[in-house]
Amino acid sequence: MSIGILTSGGDCPGLNAVIRGAVLKGTQIYNKKFVGFRHGWRGVVEGDVIPLERKDIQGISKQGGTILGTSRTNPFEANGGADVVRANMERLGVDSLIAIGGEGTLAAAKRLTDAGIKIVGVPKTVDNDLSATDYTFGFDTAVQIATDAMDRLRTTGDSHGRCMVAEVMGRHVGWIALHSGMAAGAHAILIPEQKTSMDQIAAWVQSVVDRGRAPLVVVAEGFHLDTMDDAHSERGLDAFGRPRLGGIGELLAPEIEARVGIETRATTLGHIQRGGTPTAYDRVLATRYGMAAVDSVIHARWGRMVSLSGTSITHVAFEDALGKLNTVSQSRYDEASILFG
Ligand code: F6P
Repeated sequence: MSIGILTSGGDCPGLNAVIRGAVLKGTQIYNKKFVGFRHGWRGVVEGDVIPLERKDIQGISKQGGTILGTSRTNPFEANGGADVVRANMERLGVDSLIAIGGEGTLAAAKRLTDAGIKIVGVPKTVDNDLSATDYTFGFDTAVQIATDAMDRLRTTGDSHGRCMVAEVMGRHVGWIALHSGMAAGAHAILIPEQKTSMDQIAAWVQSVVDRGRAPLVVVAEGFHLDTMDDAHSERGLDAFGRPRLGGIGELLAPEIEARVGIETRATTLGHIQRGGTPTAYDRVLATRYGMAAVDSVIHARWGRMVSLSGTSITHVAFEDALGKLNTVSQSRYDEASILFG
């Protein structure tokens, strides 16, 4: 029997390092066989697999994306759920799954585990929004990419004397914005955890202009002004029923320009934050997660997700990993806000 690996949900730098870590430890230490399900849960419900032997994972930890492909397919809804997953696993000789994914993926993994399917989870998200782990791999890379982009926005902003608004990802938490904004020396960091007024944003921008500098405003896609009920969303819902976010930067830019009188441009960094080579930190974390996931399979820790606690890898139950977001605390925001304006 084989262990099946799948990568599901939005891709994330470091996915290949998890796959490599799992296959290397599983084959070398435990003499296990692996297959890879293609395109996340879609491959599991369609029975679409590729071989995963040692030769298939050579040198991949530095590659972005995922060699298995991914999708936001939900195995439930119209896709047959546990019965179809069980039947396909039996037919393909797969007795357990390592599911690498974020909240949506792990929620589906929990429902399947409750139905008796043997699954261990690996947390993955650039958003760093899972509460049961100190860090998710991919986050460090996304922050580095966003910081590099902002350094570039600042030189063009300085040259033209413009206010630059950089919109970053993060869904309903502000970690990417907080870290990249601090690293790039942003003059305002707008995050979902802190509703802010347009007057306050304009005041921060104005004080930068008054000092003769070009302001940089970082906004997380999930941010909302104090006058808005929810985050800005204009692209409907994803397969897990969550709103697709994005576009708040373009809304704020003309408001800033109108209030402060400085020419203002918005840039949405978008999927660039998820692309390309993972940082060394993410490769190491992802490799350790992959190896720990195989240990969990060997020890039959079904329904549990590997997680980082300090510098140690441990494991937590899916139910403890879900439902509570890892949000930016008031103290972390207060610390950053000393640098605003
Ligand atoms: O969860 C990761 C993430 O990149 C979010 O930051 C973002 O809101 C979303 O996925 C984008 O999803 P998609 O790739 O489906 O457009």
